Amino acid sequence: MTATSFYRETWADIDLDAVANNVRNMKTRIPEDVALLAVVKANGYGHGALQVARTALDNGASWLAVALFDEALALRKQGIEAPILVLSPIPPQHVNHAAKYHIALTVSDGEWVKRARENYTAEQSVSLHISCDTGMGRIGIRNKDEASTLVSEIRRDPRFVIEGMFTHFATADQDDEAYFNEQYGRFEMMVDWIQELGARPAVIHCGNSATTLKYPAERRHLFNMVRYGIAMYGLSPSPEMVKQLPFVLKRAMSLHSRLTYVKQVEKGSFIGYGATYQAPDDEWIGTVPIGYADGWLRGFHDTDVLIDGQRCPIVGRICMDQFMCRLPHAYPEGTEVTLIGKNGAEEITADERAQQLQTINYEVTCTIHPRVPRVYWKNGKKIATSNPILTAADET
Ligand SMILES: Cc1ncc(COP(=O)(O)O)c(C=O)c1O
Repeated sequence: MTATSFYRETWADIDLDAVANNVRNMKTRIPEDVALLAVVKANGYGHGALQVARTALDNGASWLAVALFDEALALRKQGIEAPILVLSPIPPQHVNHAAKYHIALTVSDGEWVKRARENYTAEQSVSLHISCDTGMGRIGIRNKDEASTLVSEIRRDPRFVIEGMFTHFATADQDDEAYFNEQYGRFEMMVDWIQELGARPAVIHCGNSATTLKYPAERRHLFNMVRYGIAMYGLSPSPEMVKQLPFVLKRAMSLHSRLTYVKQVEKGSFIGYGATYQAPDDEWIGTVPIGYADGWLRGFHDTDVLIDGQRCPIVGRICMDQFMCRLPHAYPEGTEVTLIGKNGAEEITADERAQQLQTINYEVTCTIHPRVPRVYWKNGKKIATSNPILTAADET
């Protein structure tokens, strides 16, 4: 059990009401018989897998997906009973664990099944989802021969159950739909192949957030389950998609710290590693206790943070655990600093941070390290905190 107390002045607030809202909004827009799978891999895109999973399940999701078997097991051990799918291939020797803990696995090739069979000693069955590579080029069967080899390998042991099949789109978030349509067409063909081989997967899924936001009512694009990731956290799958969102996404994560040291420096003083910043005048400098080891990456060095409702520039290089910023005047130590989120009338979004790093919002939230405690809010109240650096036994 991880600790709930923390002893540092940096934390991420996670608004579970925002997650609930984003799930409910999507659930009411998709056809009733289309299941919503909440993607909570990578610690719920940095938001906290367990809390997000519980919130999603309470608000209309009926499945969960993660990337790693370890992530699935952690959810099971913490009491999650809903179906969980591991989206990436796992080493075949772990098939017994999957069977024991009722965790569904992704399969991409007959060889994996053969090796899993050789290791399979558990009595319980294991559910498999066939991954189809329709153009993502990552994992999955690509042609009829691979489909047929895979299905016949699976059939050699009745404990293997073909529960699902899926594909993943490479360009669903882009305006140009040509490649998306190509992939979609290929997937329809693959569904036919699998059915011609006599398999009847109960769940067929292809829609990620972008697909589901674009075609919420179009069953033909959704089959009978959608995999809802980034939009559940309140973020648009791409900047292009912002203009076509069918409802307002509520952002769930904000990132905060406090000034731990404030001083006035003289004109000409240098700040930080490499002495890259030299104060052009006498000025007030604040130190903020978050650095690149927290996922507050060095690439943010020329950006702002929010203090007292205004933008204050970061000065000098970001250190491993701290950075410095220029203040308009003295502020007391303990003053709140917002790195992502609202502060007064100002806001810096994860999208703005992504632009600053020339990356995507997914990377910004996933990168916030677990050593930054997460504080969970529900109905406007703090309901939990998590600090995986300490165990519950360390709490005083
Ligand atoms: C296989 C798979 N399905 C679904 C998702 C969720 O995608 P999104 O976060 O864009 O909704 C991902 C995310 O990377 C994925 O890899």
